[in-house]
Amino acid sequence: MTHVLETGLEFLNAEGSAGLPSVKGWNIINGKLTGSSDGGTFKSTNPANLSDCLGEFPLSTRADVSDALDAARAAFVGWSATPAPTRGQIIGNMGRLLMEHKDEIVRLETREIGKTLKESAGSVQEAIDTCLFFQSEGRRLYGQTVNSELPDKELFTYRRPLGVCGIINACNFPAAVPFWKMIPAIMCGNTCVWKSPQDAPLLSFALARIMHQAGLPDGVINLVHGKGSTTGQYLVDAVDEGKVNKISFTGSTAVGKAIGEVCGRNLVSCSLELGGKNPLVVMPSANLENAVAGAYWAAFGTAGQRCTSLGNLILHEDIHDEFMAAFMEKVRTTRIGDSLRDDDVLYGPMLSEKYAKDFLEGVEMCEADGATRLFGEGRITTESSPENFLGDAEAGVYIWPHVFSDVTEDMDCFHNEIFGPVVTVVKAKDFDHALHLANASPYGLSSAIYTNDRLEAYRYKTGIKAGMTGINNSTTGAEAHLPFGGVKGSGNGTRESGIWVIEAYSYWHAVNDELSGKLQLAQMDVDEIEMVEAEVDWSVLA
Ligand code: UN1
Repeated sequence: MTHVLETGLEFLNAEGSAGLPSVKGWNIINGKLTGSSDGGTFKSTNPANLSDCLGEFPLSTRADVSDALDAARAAFVGWSATPAPTRGQIIGNMGRLLMEHKDEIVRLETREIGKTLKESAGSVQEAIDTCLFFQSEGRRLYGQTVNSELPDKELFTYRRPLGVCGIINACNFPAAVPFWKMIPAIMCGNTCVWKSPQDAPLLSFALARIMHQAGLPDGVINLVHGKGSTTGQYLVDAVDEGKVNKISFTGSTAVGKAIGEVCGRNLVSCSLELGGKNPLVVMPSANLENAVAGAYWAAFGTAGQRCTSLGNLILHEDIHDEFMAAFMEKVRTTRIGDSLRDDDVLYGPMLSEKYAKDFLEGVEMCEADGATRLFGEGRITTESSPENFLGDAEAGVYIWPHVFSDVTEDMDCFHNEIFGPVVTVVKAKDFDHALHLANASPYGLSSAIYTNDRLEAYRYKTGIKAGMTGINNSTTGAEAHLPFGGVKGSGNGTRESGIWVIEAYSYWHAVNDELSGKLQLAQMDVDEIEMVEAEVDWSVLA
């Protein structure tokens, strides 16, 4: 078997239909390139041009997942004993290599999932920021010294790694999100089996290769490709077999709940970053131009395919019409296309056919609810395209921007996440009603308010049930050193990103060192200090 660093890329087809090469992709298990045990493969295609195939990848079987878990288990011994500053140095190298190859990685991300080049650059930068942030954590990873209640005895706390982590991420942030998970995981001394997203296997392979190039020992990160319903499921099934000590998952609430059940019955830790129906409130005191820009970006940037994208746009009735006039002007002129060819597009294709299909079901839900369709005609085709559509409608998976108004709390489309370019507009009578509406969906990931009334901003910040809130800002755009995550249906309370994520990949180990040479009992052999009776009349002093 060939080591991942002994080879470049093996080209299946040096000149694919788009003039770009198609590769033979591999799993990486214990540093070695491996295929699927039953020879099964799947293809990765460019959603802006479905005839552009990026490569063929192993459809990993249960046996492949098991091999990857065994490799991670074996590597854990050496990696968890490696000094944390050394682990940090390797993580720093990953960040530097990503900087060096950023342009190529960014173009690859755009080719594989259709995100604009600007946004792919943002996602790769988030991975770099994560590496640079955690590089120095290797020189901290602090524990505490704690005073004992007994003499000649010392107390300490240490952070210990959990063991083997199963990593499953969605394909919409294929560089940032797996790094949010794996960088703190390996920083703490864990090892990983990473199930790549089915729609971003080549990018995942490139990133895993860079991780090995940075000096990561074999087996610390093992990459397996495949479908969520098979390969991903095998990884989760392994929790029941006692082979996994942590699952970290980003994806739908339904799948997250199923993973949570498996982990719960095995007392295995899991981090779940799930859906959102993120509200954005606009109040009369807001700077409307700024609010329109923020809402428009939050709704349609990334083709609405962020878990932090805008869901319910909640407009105070006094500014509803003025806001909507300016907002719709922007929506109508949205530039959509293939960012590798077309300049200045706001968004590209959907991540894949499956995302388009699910999205169109969401549009049907809005229709069935009786919401008013102000804009959007479903899939973009040669016959039906918005005025600033620049892509090739027949070649790629493109969707119109959609706006539904007159949405009310009793409608399904008010409560359900619709992953894609759509916004549901809700009218609010006053601030209390707006806050009520913002809290009325089953989710609690991100949220935002536009207001210039400081008390309103304060009341929103303290009254909203969400993991993240933007004040005079959009719902998206979390930074790599802040905690990321949600409450209610958006997750199980764990956080990604920033220093807080360390809690999700380590446990506290409390150690006491008895130096007295005898058995001293806590609580029972502790010195008791009596209070002294000494009356004084303080009232004479004033
Ligand atoms: C996601 O959609 O899963 O805050 C992650 C944001 C990005 C990350 C989104 N920094 O929108």
